[in-house]
Amino acid sequence: MKLTGNVILITGGGSGLGRGFAEAFHKLGNQVVIAGRREDVLRETAEANAGMDWVRMDVADAASIAEATAEVVRRHGGLNVVMNNAGVQRYIDFTKVYDDAKALEEINTNILGLMRVTAALLPQLRGVPDAVVVNVSSGLAFVPLARYPVYCASKAFVHSFSISLRHQLKETGVRVVELAPPWVESGLHDAHPPEGNPEPAPGRGPMPLEAFLAAAMEELGSGKDELAVAGAKFMYGAAVGEGAGKAFGGMNG
Ligand SMILES: NC(=O)c1ccc[n+]([C@@H]2O[C@H](COP(=O)([O-])OP(=O)(O)OC[C@H]3O[C@@H](n4cnc5c(N)ncnc54)[C@H](OP(=O)(O)O)[C@@H]3O)[C@@H](O)[C@H]2O)c1
Repeated sequence: MKLTGNVILITGGGSGLGRGFAEAFHKLGNQVVIAGRREDVLRETAEANAGMDWVRMDVADAASIAEATAEVVRRHGGLNVVMNNAGVQRYIDFTKVYDDAKALEEINTNILGLMRVTAALLPQLRGVPDAVVVNVSSGLAFVPLARYPVYCASKAFVHSFSISLRHQLKETGVRVVELAPPWVESGLHDAHPPEGNPEPAPGRGPMPLEAFLAAAMEELGSGKDELAVAGAKFMYGAAVGEGAGKAFGGMNG
């Protein structure tokens, strides 16, 4: 995708990777709109980046998505990029107590949220040039980390869904890009109990955010559809190969 001249909505853009992407695109002169649930976080991020806009949106709530996406399109008629970045990760141990609420939160946010935001904005995206849907998956879409079983499956969903959406939209001019980050410093793991977040082995910790953003922005500008960033490349390579593309082509014409 082009890295300048866009009007971009970034879900989860008030903190973590989303804020990093919001500020990186803002610095390049793009009009950025950030969305999330915490108004104070969104407001503080927008105020620190003059001209950045924000809207309250809970991607786990269909009504909130409908209202917020309509508001964004009303304010920014040229919206041409949506980055589906909002996500949650929960520790669920099936040998102990299965927590349905945690699983539902992951499914509502990471799966339904991403699909509903995309569907709500497709009429807008189909009417503008250089339209792109960027779906943030994870290296864990390709090789799961078993202590986050629903999270990893939700990211495998994002990978599979992105392939089908790309195929369905191929005559529309709307590109679908999947971006798979490695483990990066953020608030994603903050809600885990200690047993859900063991100390990493020496030298195996999360990638610093700034280094991740530099690598991810380079990938986004590369023109490829599936972008595995840094440490996620080996996980992507382990699960996806030429054979997968050939099989998909054979089945879908
Ligand atoms: N960090 C990593 O190691 C890593 C690795 C691979 C993939 N990823 C993916 O990268 C994306 C960003 O994660 P992160 O690491 O930046 O995590 P984070 O620091 O926890 O940030 C998550 C963001 O998502 C927003 N969010 C969560 N639930 C939401 C909801 N229901 N509606 C709207 N916004 C919601 C949060 O804002 P509010 O709380 O204000 O709503 C927050 O801004 C996620 O999709 C994650 O799965 C992260």
